Amino acid sequence: MSAIINDIEIIKSETTKINDVDFNNLKFGHVFSDHMLECDYKDGKWQAPKVVPYQGITLDPSAKIFHYGQSVFEGMKAYKDAHEKVWLFRPLDNFKRINISSKRLAIPELPENYFMDGLKALLEVDKDWIPSNEGSSLYIRPFIFASGNGFHASPADEYKFIICTAPSGSYFSGDVKVLIEEKYSRSANGGVGFAKAGGNYAGQFYPTQLAIEKGYQQVIWTDDNTHEYIEEAGAMNIFVRINDTLITGPTSDRILDGITRKSIIELAESENIPVEVRKLTVAEVVEAAKNGSLKEMFGAGTAAVISPISGFGYKGEDYEIEKIDNTYASFLKKRITDIQTNKAEDPFGWRYEV
Ligand code: PLP
Ligand code: COI
Repeated sequence: MSAIINDIEIIKSETTKINDVDFNNLKFGHVFSDHMLECDYKDGKWQAPKVVPYQGITLDPSAKIFHYGQSVFEGMKAYKDAHEKVWLFRPLDNFKRINISSKRLAIPELPENYFMDGLKALLEVDKDWIPSNEGSSLYIRPFIFASGNGFHASPADEYKFIICTAPSGSYFSGDVKVLIEEKYSRSANGGVGFAKAGGNYAGQFYPTQLAIEKGYQQVIWTDDNTHEYIEEAGAMNIFVRINDTLITGPTSDRILDGITRKSIIELAESENIPVEVRKLTVAEVVEAAKNGSLKEMFGAGTAAVISPISGFGYKGEDYEIEKIDNTYASFLKKRITDIQTNKAEDPFGWRYEV
């Protein structure tokens, strides 16, 4: 069956998997909705996107994604409120960021209407897949990869842009313990750390596996040059609270310019929480943990939302962060999720109705 929504052709699936899904017990990114958006770049331009049934894709073994890793992605969420209205959070920032990432990976930039109208059409078709229970949302994964063929180490001439979605619960279960990295690096000056490039994540898996074997869930990356400065974690930006001040490092070409991060900075400032965006040394955090002034540490990201960190490891020592009442993490998490899910006023204009 075929239809048109927002100028986007819709080819509907004849079956649905929705009745097999337990919406009260959702893991993160494990089950996928019935449809996906698909859009091809060929003959020098992006072709019109279509919503099609969620399905496998066939690629030639010489497709450049397999050999040279030319791929970028985004992470977003759709929320359904009590009146069945559907909301996104700052989606144009994700659109802009996928093009920033693409440019660095020599992938042709996408037109805004293909991204936004395509996404809206997909969400309309799969509206029933958007959870409305607390803590759950429809995780949205837009991605682009080189589907063009050839062993020549140069950009492909064909690409695929796909958006698929997964009704999801929280990314982490419980508090998170992190290892501050002293040896490996996620990114370097002049590299691709600021881009959401697939390879940035592959490069983290081995050091993260080593950290998991030692009982941590994530690595906190430090700068590649000196390993003295806190940068970000594998899937989220990092905030610490020393006494009453919330501190996060500045973004750079090594760090992802997180949409949650910048929203938290604005939210905290609007609530008169003292915020510092400045270089943060590991030594300062260790010292604060030792003298008790390290009150909180948390990660911030679309998947992670705001995830409290209960302690960290560094140079063979473990440091626990004593639990306190009325944390900035729980206050800011409530503020941001209330805005995202249309439970509170949005003075910033971040919420976007689909
Ligand atoms: N840093 C990394 C490496 C990430 O993968 C993510 C997730 O997208 C973030 C930070 C947080 O970014 P955002 O808040 O835009 O999701
Ligand atoms: C997100 O938070 O959306 C991300 O892309 C992080 C990912 C590693 C799950």
